[in-house]
Amino acid sequence: MSTFQYMKNLIKDRNIASITPTSKSGVKEVCERIDFSKRVVIVEYGPATGVFTKYLLEQMTNDSLLIAVELNENFAETLQKNITDSRLHVYQESAENIDEIMEKHGGEKADYVISGIPFSLMNSELRQSIVRKTKEVLKSEGKFLPYQTFFQKDEHLKNYLTSNFNDVQEGFIIKNLPPMRLYEAVK
Ligand SMILES: C[S@@+](CC[C@H](N)C(=O)[O-])C[C@H]1O[C@@H](n2cnc3c(N)ncnc32)[C@H](O)[C@@H]1O
Repeated sequence: MSTFQYMKNLIKDRNIASITPTSKSGVKEVCERIDFSKRVVIVEYGPATGVFTKYLLEQMTNDSLLIAVELNENFAETLQKNITDSRLHVYQESAENIDEIMEKHGGEKADYVISGIPFSLMNSELRQSIVRKTKEVLKSEGKFLPYQTFFQKDEHLKNYLTSNFNDVQEGFIIKNLPPMRLYEAVK
């Protein structure tokens, strides 16, 4: 997808929330938290143009599974059209429905959930629902890896993570414009 098309989508849809896709080094830094040496089930919330999606598919074993959940119709369609890989399953859905989506995969549990969706734009009910359902679909010891813009307040996401997950670490990714705040929440 061209920058022009990305901007057109951004103007129409406030949920996109970021002027540019995550940088290559930003993607790599987030994905350092993933063990790609064995079969993994990864869920991605808000793939947009697929910068994470493509990198994850490059790194994953042949028997791994990637479930991408994108609310924006144009992004979901483009992703589906542009990436033909049997390990990838794209759903034009809200992350809030992740429990129903995993049921379509035989109730499979995820090793990792990566998320770029803007929790700052959600109401507290939706934040709590997505965080709780994310925990439910993770394996024990599974990790939730949400990245957000660095100026985000604790009340947008961190507080929900600490009240739902056993361990929550946070860091900053500065090789990205704007810099990102990354959480590592372990079930
Ligand atoms: C900031 S962009 C992140 C894009 C991409 N992952 C990246 O790193 O460049 C946020 C994306 O989340 C999607 N999104 C927003 N709310 C969502 C929700 N509730 N469920 C699924 N996707 C959502 C938006 O449509 C947008 O594509």
